[in-house]
Amino acid sequence: MYKYAIIGFGGLGKLQLGNLLELEAERGDMKLCALCGADPNSFKSNVKINIGNIDISNVDFSECAFYQDYRELIDKEKPDFIISTLPTYLHEEVAIYALERGVHVFSEKPMALTLESCDRMIEAGKKGGKLMIGHALRFDPIYIKIKEYIDNETFGKPYRAEFSRYSATPTWTWNNWILDPEKSGGAAIDLHVHDVDLVNWLFGTPDCLRSVSTSKKTKRESMFTQYFYEDLFVTTSADWSMCASFPFEARTIINFEHATVTVLDGKLIVHRDGEPIVPILSGVSCYMNEMRSFVEWVIDGKPCELISVESVRESMELAFSEIESAEKDLPIYYEED
Ligand SMILES: NC(=O)c1ccc[n+]([C@@H]2O[C@H](COP(=O)([O-])OP(=O)(O)OC[C@H]3O[C@@H](n4cnc5c(N)ncnc54)[C@H](O)[C@@H]3O)[C@@H](O)[C@H]2O)c1
Repeated sequence: MYKYAIIGFGGLGKLQLGNLLELEAERGDMKLCALCGADPNSFKSNVKINIGNIDISNVDFSECAFYQDYRELIDKEKPDFIISTLPTYLHEEVAIYALERGVHVFSEKPMALTLESCDRMIEAGKKGGKLMIGHALRFDPIYIKIKEYIDNETFGKPYRAEFSRYSATPTWTWNNWILDPEKSGGAAIDLHVHDVDLVNWLFGTPDCLRSVSTSKKTKRESMFTQYFYEDLFVTTSADWSMCASFPFEARTIINFEHATVTVLDGKLIVHRDGEPIVPILSGVSCYMNEMRSFVEWVIDGKPCELISVESVRESMELAFSEIESAEKDLPIYYEED
């Protein structure tokens, strides 16, 4: 039986638990052995995050141990793999501690807060356990389909794209760590990294980018970027300074030579001459798909082609460049390989 633990049991930890329990039931060869969080009073409580309520009231924790210190958990329980859903400033240290002991690690996005941290995580992943970063949207059937459209030129080449992501100011995290840019990177990293990673995954590194950020309510609460490619222009907007009642919204528009493809409210639509087409896709959530891929990689040895730590590092490099561009009010140019 393969043992696993969730380290950081807040919004995302609780969301991923549901998927992991489903995989446990389906496979029969893995078992949750322990949970780790800073606040023992919150281990069994439900949680509300920007994408909805997570209800764990029916989960049976009778065979699960609880820890507040992740080192103690890893040393005593010796899990085969961990799901690290800790605040971002802790991603590097827990990943390296586990990987060096041969424990496989699924670590939530954003990978880390500096490129040097990303590099140290990648190095640790070459020596011991395997490392996957949780960029859930790469596992979303919608974006897998869009990548297929781009790679196969189904509707010709894309020439303009926009990605936006808006949220009320997050107030639900442990000790409000997310509002401190030293701990989360601000919206410029925490919220926006989803779209930076999509841009990099779908279109590759741009020739140049230029960004603007605001800090009206909380530092680095937004990031607006233009990415310039030879035959393509991409814009992104991320902002978590929306008022409290504003519902979370994420939107994608891609103009291809022969179609306009949109994603809104989790629905993919292809607009062409005549009636729009709504492709039929598997309804499995991106979070379930990524958990399944991670488990199949570390237990069954099935390679995961959708994501690599090196490709995530590239996305992080773009995200950090955007902050530099916004702070220095300068475009950033990338050399051709
Ligand atoms: N993939 C996604 O769509 C997505 C969505 C939201 C958050 N995230 C990422 O998930 C990570 C966690 O975010 P969250 O919203 O769940 O945060 P959260 O504050 O809700 O949860 C963090 C958990 O970590 C625990 N913790 C804090 N310090 C600890 C320590 N030293 N040792 C052990 N436990 C500790 C807290 O008790 C809490 O349970 C972040 O990196 C965030 O960016 C990803």
